[in-house]
Amino acid sequence: MNPSSGNPIGVFDSGVGGLTVVRALMERLPFENIVYFGDTARVPYGVKSVETIAHYTTQIAEFLLAKDVKLLVVACNTMAAVASQIVKDLSPVPVLDVIDAGALGAISTSTKKQVGVIGTPTTINSNAYARAIHQYEPEARIFSQACPLFVPLVEEGWLDHPVTRLTAQEYLKPVLAQNIDTLVLGCTHYPLLKPLLQDVVGSGVRLVDSAEAMAEETAALLAEMNMANPQRTPPRYEFYVTDVPLRFQTIGERFLGRTLSNVHVVKW
Ligand code: DGL
Repeated sequence: MNPSSGNPIGVFDSGVGGLTVVRALMERLPFENIVYFGDTARVPYGVKSVETIAHYTTQIAEFLLAKDVKLLVVACNTMAAVASQIVKDLSPVPVLDVIDAGALGAISTSTKKQVGVIGTPTTINSNAYARAIHQYEPEARIFSQACPLFVPLVEEGWLDHPVTRLTAQEYLKPVLAQNIDTLVLGCTHYPLLKPLLQDVVGSGVRLVDSAEAMAEETAALLAEMNMANPQRTPPRYEFYVTDVPLRFQTIGERFLGRTLSNVHVVKW
């Protein structure tokens, strides 16, 4: 057993969205301690420049490393798209990112290798999903679409609302015209739209939830490195945020699927 097995997994995101990844981790790995960082004061990242995101990402990774995490999970697709290498270069512990996990999920799901990817403008412009998928499957054809309105719609709680449905139909029209058989949900917020999106894309298209894919990859890595927590006591969950904005608790709990407690505010 690795001496750091009882240490927490560090998970980070631009805001509360990464709690979808925490939720998937809690379900898949119920005995792991988790420390989460959400940059609620500076969210959204999805429309910011690469330089700014790289700077914020470095700050957050260093904060979590100081908490003695045994593993870093980049839950934010936007950070993973443009700053994953920066985290890998500075981290003494293993780093997993949602894009790599989502890419692996897409490859194992798609039979026709016709894959759609949706995400924030920064994620889509970076082409990171296409690069990651091509690394595993050079023949795959990738069709990407930025869906900037989805993040505010999800935060508004309009998960099954005519406006969201219409927006999804509009965004997905060009991607669906390419006969995709798989659609990667390349943003922390999109798992909450799964039922609506499945309806819009139809039963012939399979959705890849990058949060679930991430939890699977984390479980595999912990097993492979003999780093799973051997304790069978209730785990410790800690949440760090840079601001507590209006409706934080409600929105956070919607993402996490349970009560959000043990929240600390970090002032930078
Ligand atoms: N967490 C971001 C992502 O997964 C979405 C929210 C944002 O734009 O910061 O891309």
